[in-house]
Amino acid sequence: MAYYFRLGQIPPKRHTQFRQPDGSLYKEELVSSKGFSGIYSNLYHIHNPNNVKSIGHPSPYHWEPAKEYGLKQTHLKTTGVGTTGQHYLSARKMLMMNGDVMMGICAPEQRKMDYFFKNADGDELIYIHDGEGVMYSQFGKLEVRKGDYIVIPRTTIYRFEFNEEGPLRLLIIESHGPIETVKRYRNELGQLLEHSPYCERDIRPPGELVTESAKGEYLVQIKKGGMLHPYTYAHSPLDIVGWDGFLYPYALSIHDFEPITGRIHQPPPVHQTFQAWGFVICSFVPRLFDYHPLAIPAPYNHSNIDSDEVLYYAEGEFMSRKGIDRGSFTVHVGGLPHGPHPGTVEKSIGAKETHEYAVMLDTFRPLQLTTQALEFVDPNYPMSWTE
Ligand SMILES: [Fe+2]
Repeated sequence: MAYYFRLGQIPPKRHTQFRQPDGSLYKEELVSSKGFSGIYSNLYHIHNPNNVKSIGHPSPYHWEPAKEYGLKQTHLKTTGVGTTGQHYLSARKMLMMNGDVMMGICAPEQRKMDYFFKNADGDELIYIHDGEGVMYSQFGKLEVRKGDYIVIPRTTIYRFEFNEEGPLRLLIIESHGPIETVKRYRNELGQLLEHSPYCERDIRPPGELVTESAKGEYLVQIKKGGMLHPYTYAHSPLDIVGWDGFLYPYALSIHDFEPITGRIHQPPPVHQTFQAWGFVICSFVPRLFDYHPLAIPAPYNHSNIDSDEVLYYAEGEFMSRKGIDRGSFTVHVGGLPHGPHPGTVEKSIGAKETHEYAVMLDTFRPLQLTTQALEFVDPNYPMSWTE
């Protein structure tokens, strides 16, 4: 959800005759959420969007929770991981999950997808840790780069073309509920308020429409019910001549998130960037530290009685943690206190600013590690506070 936007050609009135140069009608498709009560967009196709040529056999596409992992503060060291698989879908290593959300990494060998993907199970939030390129979808061409969050509403048909140069590493979040801007930062008509850490100018919708009228064979891998369903269509899914509405993919750069600071330590909600069912996403960005004369910049010990907290360390020095690198995940679980490592509190006093970037996932229901996560577990982390 962002704001009303339109690209390409649309008729003056919805659900009315809108004709192609040969006199035939464009095919209108309403893409709507919450039945007919949520945000929606109207898309105008050259071809019928149901023009299926063949349907392949579904294959499993889900992750298993690691049973009997136990109650432990966890550090997942994914720093040195190179590529994680051949292509965009096979390279997804989901590391933690619950009924509301899954989170993992993806570093595919193949930079340019030769198929389309449509996630019908949930909205996606892709954080580009490394890489840049273009996301092509029915809503148009969206240029993406390092530091971008890309919000992809469910059932968006898309594919990525990442540049071949430099590293490529994505943080992938799949959400059962819609991923939205933060409600307390919106006025009653949905506009982002003055005290919001970002505003509509920072939200980047697709820049230009890509309209492909050609017929042929176009594979769309559809994820639904934890399975991949290969659908081959008789035309490109990018056959849109125009669309308008509130439902579309967009990018928001972590570099455009304006931090909120204070005289004493500010709690994570000031870093909140998105909301969804059962979790929030926060962004930790370079900022001035607390300026009370007796301020302690390092966070205090914290017992989260009813949430699990995941931090993904993207860039910079993390002054409250030892042994954490770029690409580390920490999972601090409800039921146990966590806090700065020994020595880091005193060391933080007098520090003026931080250059860190981190993405935080806070869930309201317990997370489970997946079996794929176990290879990255740092066995020393649960005892790392012991002096
Ligand atoms: Fe915490």
